[in-house]
Amino acid sequence: MAFEIKKVGVIGAGQMGNGIAHVCSVAGYDVALNDISPERIQSGLATINGNMARQVNRGALSDAERVAALTRIKAAENLDALSDCDLVIEAATENEQIKRKILQQLCPVLKPEALLATNTSSISITRLAAATDRPEKFVGVHFMNPVPLMQLVELVRGIATDDHTFDLCKRFVARLGKTSTVAEDFPAFIVNRILLPMINEAIYTLYEGVGSVDAIDTAMRLGANHPMGPLQLADFIGLDTCLSIMQVLYEGLADSKYRPCPLLVKYVEAGWLGRKTQRGFYDYRGERPVPTR
Ligand SMILES: NC(=O)c1ccc[n+]([C@@H]2O[C@H](COP(=O)([O-])OP(=O)(O)OC[C@H]3O[C@@H](n4cnc5c(N)ncnc54)[C@H](O)[C@@H]3O)[C@@H](O)[C@H]2O)c1
Repeated sequence: MAFEIKKVGVIGAGQMGNGIAHVCSVAGYDVALNDISPERIQSGLATINGNMARQVNRGALSDAERVAALTRIKAAENLDALSDCDLVIEAATENEQIKRKILQQLCPVLKPEALLATNTSSISITRLAAATDRPEKFVGVHFMNPVPLMQLVELVRGIATDDHTFDLCKRFVARLGKTSTVAEDFPAFIVNRILLPMINEAIYTLYEGVGSVDAIDTAMRLGANHPMGPLQLADFIGLDTCLSIMQVLYEGLADSKYRPCPLLVKYVEAGWLGRKTQRGFYDYRGERPVPTR
């Protein structure tokens, strides 16, 4: 019988992992959602619950579809609970060591025919694939944030990825109702190779005192017609993720133009990671976001 993806495992229940679990379950896949603690999984599930309820209010989903989708998602408190998955998507913290460790622990529990994907924003697919026992079944499936709303998924082949795996992932993305684009396995692929240096430059613009947070974001919204300012977008992505991507670009392309702005480093060292920690270039603890500079 031809191999078919029916059950999807998602590792990491943060911003991206819960979004991926959300769209997979709405598309009819069974989903197992994993994170480092039961609390984090529950918090991911609560976010999915809230986001689906909003989709029902907007008329994007019927209540029956919401209930059916929620029943398809199960908490997976350890990696063993992913043993019957046909596809596992790793969406944990953007850190190569963390990802490699997860992949090494995961492979022995997987079915031999199971496919493996990573949602990394920037790390080499070929290098991550080498940490697995199945580089030919490993692929980059890079969703955009917020997953339920964003249309694009970048597909990235590692050097060993076979055509069968790539075609199955392409069909998987289409079944989610999303559009895929193909990027070569270079640091940060297409979207973040272009987007992150722009965000990093906005942070340098703030760092050098060219403008305030408000001035920079207003300038880019009204002057370049961006839907949100680059500093607001950085908060939305997560400043730790932005810094990791810049480091991958800087080291991977060995070009000083990708040097992460020291102010970005400082915010991350302070634990001001953006919306997910309630503070970044804006402070989100009050009724309205307030610029922190
Ligand atoms: N934030 C974005 O805009 C965006 C967009 C596209 C892709 N990505 C990528 O998606 C991935 C996740 O990013 P995010 O924004 O969801 O980050 P996040 O910080 O919101 O979530 C990361 C989650 O991974 C979990 N985690 C860490 N180590 C783990 C482990 N060993 N096992 C299981 N779970 C573990 C953390 O507990 C956390 O819940 C990263 O690779 C990131 O680069 C992010």
